Amino acid sequence: MNADSPVFERTLALADAAATEALGGRIAAGLSAGDAVALEGDLGAGKTTLARAILRALGVTEDVPSPTFTLVQLYETPRLTVRHYDLYRIEKPEEIDELGLDEALGEGAALIEWPERAADRLPPDRLQVVLTSTGAESRLASLRGPVKWARAFRGNDAG
Ligand SMILES: Nc1ncnc2c1ncn2[C@@H]1O[C@H](COP(=O)(O)OP(=O)(O)OP(=O)(O)O)[C@@H](O)[C@H]1O
Ligand SMILES: [Mg+2]
Repeated sequence: MNADSPVFERTLALADAAATEALGGRIAAGLSAGDAVALEGDLGAGKTTLARAILRALGVTEDVPSPTFTLVQLYETPRLTVRHYDLYRIEKPEEIDELGLDEALGEGAALIEWPERAADRLPPDRLQVVLTSTGAESRLASLRGPVKWARAFRGNDAG
């Protein structure tokens, strides 16, 4: 995404886990091969919860563990191959080169927790989601990405 590309930006107040689930459904609906979704936020902000909601909406019925230790988990969904990354434990951004992100995006989509660990190694045209805790069950989600994402969120003021 160039600095002057049109962008999609949206801030959503998520009142509870059901709202996060609904956001996952929206993202899943807009997700296609080549898309990277960066899930940013503090420990416990809800990154894995949102990734799980996206994968469930894509038809994943198996368990979706946090990839904290495996770093990446692969899901063959009916519509799309999706890799779910958690970069928390990588020590140098170069390590992401060994995790097959290019291949992941050539083949399908990637959901990436702790994207800040990858520094500038993530595609600039990713959808960036920043989750912030605002209460025990409430979160704020700030979304920014290519304008194509506006379609997935059109006609939905609440989220
Ligand atoms: N609205 C909400 N959205 C997401 N999670 C919520 C919400 N309300 C409560 N939670 C709880 O917050 C916790 C979020 O944990 P989760 O593992 O998704 O966070 P995370 O951001 O992936 O953390 P980590 O950095 O450890 O990977 C879960 O226990 C979840 O049930
Ligand atoms: Mg997590």
